[in-house]
Order: sequence, then structure tokens, then C-alpha cells
Amino acid sequence: MNPAVLLTRRIPQTVLSRLQAACAVDLHDEECAISREALLAKVTGKRALLCLLTDRVDAEVLDAGRDLRIVANIAAGFDNVDVAAARQRGITVTNTPDVLTEATAEFTWALILAATRRVSEGERLLRRGEWKGWALDFMLGMELRGKQLGIVGLGRIGAAVAVKAPAFGMRVAACSLDGSPPPWPARAAAPPVDMMPLDALLSSSDVVTLHLPLTPSTRGLIDRAALARMKASAFLVNTSRGPVVDEAALAAALMQRSIAGAALDVYEREPRVHPDLCTLENVVLAPHLGSATTETRTAMASLAVDNVLAVLGGRPPLTPVAG
Ligand code: DGY
Repeated sequence: MNPAVLLTRRIPQTVLSRLQAACAVDLHDEECAISREALLAKVTGKRALLCLLTDRVDAEVLDAGRDLRIVANIAAGFDNVDVAAARQRGITVTNTPDVLTEATAEFTWALILAATRRVSEGERLLRRGEWKGWALDFMLGMELRGKQLGIVGLGRIGAAVAVKAPAFGMRVAACSLDGSPPPWPARAAAPPVDMMPLDALLSSSDVVTLHLPLTPSTRGLIDRAALARMKASAFLVNTSRGPVVDEAALAAALMQRSIAGAALDVYEREPRVHPDLCTLENVVLAPHLGSATTETRTAMASLAVDNVLAVLGGRPPLTPVAG
């Protein structure tokens, strides 16, 4: 009999067919995330759980799924999974690194450009019918050329963002919280990077972009004090995890113009967004789209399925999370 697996969201049909060929798939085929109750009920008796960053996989879920051999998170980040609890129960946890690096780096640049050139603000004004025509001093933004890009977290995505900076004439500063060498993308020349401590990066950069996993030490890293170190002309971009930034403190900084602007793809309590942010013109708000390309989402689902098939077939996982 094929092993039973729980898949908490739709994945591309070609990838689903591969999973269905080897497993009895219980698919949560709805528009919204699986409820906590349904997750707890459906995980029982399953050998594998394919889940998303919207599913909290904690000790209670792992106990309900006592037959689980693997939790395959369809995301690079895995802060939604209690990895230590899984390890205690002998359950492998995997994620989907690498395959989303380029898509997320591209989207980071989309946000940098949107914030500094006021793209969303301009479109909102135009759609409201308030555009009075071209004027020399109308809706001026900040040019990137000659400015400093400060990258907080020089892992795969941070490095892929850095590689594109010379194309915009930006110099790169970075700080690495764990001190590991940057994993420069293959076939890309590593740009010169000025490594510096976080405080120095915050006070000297024109655009600060966050590329950190959510851990106890990064939660709330960009708080009121960190924002106060930034230049009044600077922009903050976050495509990593929402709770790295104190949203209330950011909203206050944007309101007081103690920084010029921000662009966010991730939020402290997704899908909720701090109400003050929604009222501000100087922040671009995207609904967690960093990896949202057809190519990348297919590759993420495919890698998660490969991990499940490997573990259920008695082989090592391709991309295990170190627990
Ligand atoms: C991830 O994989 O961690 C991303 O946030 C998904 O877009």
C-alpha cells in the first residue's frame, strides 16, 4: 500500500502527479490555509507532511502525526516548524533552499526600485484621478547610482541581491550575523563588499535590505533604536520574515519621516498588516510575493516532493534542515 501523505495546499499538477504516483495524497484543496483543527486531525496516520510557512508545525502536530517520517516545508524559511521537537521524535525536516534565491533577489530589487521611485504611490494617485500632468518637481524619488546598499544577512539571497547592485551603480555594504562567507551565486562576479557591524551599516546606508532567517536573535532586530540609526533619507526593505522588524516602530518612523520610506513583502502577523502602515504613502506593501514566480514555486514544490520520496524510499533527504 502506498504511504499516506498530507499536503496542506495545492501544488502544480505535474509535481502533484509525481507524488500521487508513489503516495496516497490527502490534499487540502482550498483557497485558504488548512485550519489548526483540520491539520491536527488529518496528520494522524500520515507518513509525510508537506506544508507551507502558514502551517504551524509544533509538538502538538508532531504528536498527532506520530507516524510521520518527514515534514517537508515548501519554503526556504522553516521558522514555522519546531525542528528540535521533530528531531526528538526522529522526524526529518526539509526545506527548499536555493531554488528561490533568484526570484527573491529579483523581487527585492523590484521593491527597492518601487520604494525609491515612488511607483506604488504614483499609481495610487493616478488611479484616484489626481494626476495633473508632468512637472519638473513632481513626485521626485531617490536615484540609486552612487548610493550605498546595506545588506543585513549575506546568505544565498543577500549575496544574489548584492551581485545585481553594480548594475545600478550602487556600492555594497553588508553585515553577516553568523560570520559565514557569502555563498556567491555561480556564474556571477562577486562585487566588492564592505563588511561592517550592523550599527555602522544602518547609519551609513541609503537602502537597507534584510535577508535574515527568523530566529530568537533576529526577532525584533530592526526596532525603534535600529530605525533611529538610519539616515532620514534612507529606505528599509524586508523580504525575509516580518517579525525581524517591529512594525509599530517602523510605522512611527515612516510617519515622523525619520526614514524616507520602506518596502515590505513580509509582516509580523500575516496576512494582517499593521493598520498604520496601510495609511502611509511612503511604504510599498506587497503580499509575500518574494518567491512567487511560476518557475520558482514549481521548483519549490518539486524539491519538497523529492525530499518526501527520498525519505519514504529509505534514502537521505536532498535538503535537510540542520536541527
Ligand atoms: C520562503 O521560502 O521562506 C519564502 O518566504 C517563501 O516565499
